[in-house]
Order: sequence, then structure tokens, then C-alpha cells
Amino acid sequence: MRIAPSILAADLADLAGALGVCERGGADFVHVDVMDGHFVPNLSFGIPVLAALRRRTALPLDVHLMVTNPGELLDDYLAAGATSIAVHWEVVPHLDRLLDRIRRGGARAGVAINPATPVELLIDSLPRLDYVLLMSVNPGFSGQAFLPHVLDKARRLRRLLVSGAAGSPGGAQIEIGIDGGIGRDNIRAAAEAGIDFAVVGSAVFGAPDPAGTIGELRRLAAAPAAI
Ligand code: DX5
Ligand code: ZN
Repeated sequence: MRIAPSILAADLADLAGALGVCERGGADFVHVDVMDGHFVPNLSFGIPVLAALRRRTALPLDVHLMVTNPGELLDDYLAAGATSIAVHWEVVPHLDRLLDRIRRGGARAGVAINPATPVELLIDSLPRLDYVLLMSVNPGFSGQAFLPHVLDKARRLRRLLVSGAAGSPGGAQIEIGIDGGIGRDNIRAAAEAGIDFAVVGSAVFGAPDPAGTIGELRRLAAAPAAI
């Protein structure tokens, strides 16, 4: 299981310190939540913030666009140094176009879906996708409770990818991420449901040892199931 700390849950007056936690803890990439106050009831990181983060770390920067107009912002986030970008299925009428633009811009293309959005809706876009981000909370805030039914969505999506039912030869290469309410208690269940990477906010940055917690979560994800 790869671990992506979400810096939304860090001390926002010390983002350089949050990047230091990610680097010392061996994070696989850094998750940057972009919120516009329209798609979600919160505001967070703009383009200059992403550019500033890019100057401070060599870690991949994974941008989660929780905005109603991702098409208008994509190019600026690509230019600011995003390594991967996920747009929300719920606000995008022409998903394939945006996914192609993300790839042409040199980043990995992802789609994020809310807890109420079925994974089956992605079937025809799989050839254009590098990853799917399953929201396991309704987006907007760190520290919300995990919604366990999302594990069933993960299993259904994994089956779709493995079966190639989508007519997507590259389906098996698509990664499945989960975002929201992940911590010690459920990361093993997420791994068993077929999740490749977990976005973790408060369970990392709210821990007494945030850097150490990154490795601990990875170990717990790989641990044999308790009998
Ligand atoms: C929620 C964000 C998440 C959030 C995760 O809208 O997309 O990335 O920061 O935080 P936790 O792990 O605390 O739920
Ligand atoms: Zn997120």
C-alpha cells in the first residue's frame, strides 16, 4: 500500500514542516486538496501554493481538484508542478477531454468519485485513466468518519479492472486510491479490498509522531489479517 499524506490536515502555517514529515516518513507522494467553496463548503490551496510546495520538495504532488470548473484550472496546476491530477466525475460533462489534457500536460490522469457515485459509471473512461480516487467521506474536510460501504465499491472496481470487462486492455494498470477517514483501524481492510494507495490526513498529522505513522500505516496495511 502506498501512502499519500494529505497536507490539508497539517499545520497550515507550516507547510514546509508538513513536507518534511512526508519526506522523513517515506511518503510515496503528497496529496494536495484544492477546494473552491462551491463544489465543497471549504477553501484551501491555490495555484501559488502548489508552486511553492513544488519548490520545496522532490516528492510527487498529487492534486485533488474539488472545484466546479476543473477545466479552467487544469493548465495552471499542471504548470505549477502537479505530478497527478484528479478531477471529480460529478462536475465534469466531458471527462475524456479533461483526462486527455492532463496526460498531454505530462501528469497522471485521475478521476475522483463521491461516496454516492457508482464505480460502474467509469467503465468507458478506463482507457484514459491512470487512477481512480474513491472518496470514503463526502469531500470538504479532514477528520470525518470513514464510510465503510466504499470498500464494496473498491472490490467492484477491482473486479472490473481485472476482468477487462470495460474493454480496457490497460485496465489492470489503473491504480485505486481511497481518500477520507483512513487510519490504523481500517487501512488493512482497504488493502484487502484492492486499494493501491491511501490518502491519509488527520491520522498522520494528528498523531504524536506523524513521520513514524506513515511507515506504521504501511506496515499495518501489509500485516496478515488478525485471526
Ligand atoms: C477530504 C479530502 C481528504 C482529507 C483526508 O475532502 O479530500 O484528502 O484531507 O483527511 P482525513 O484522512 O482526515 O479524512
Ligand atoms: Zn483529497
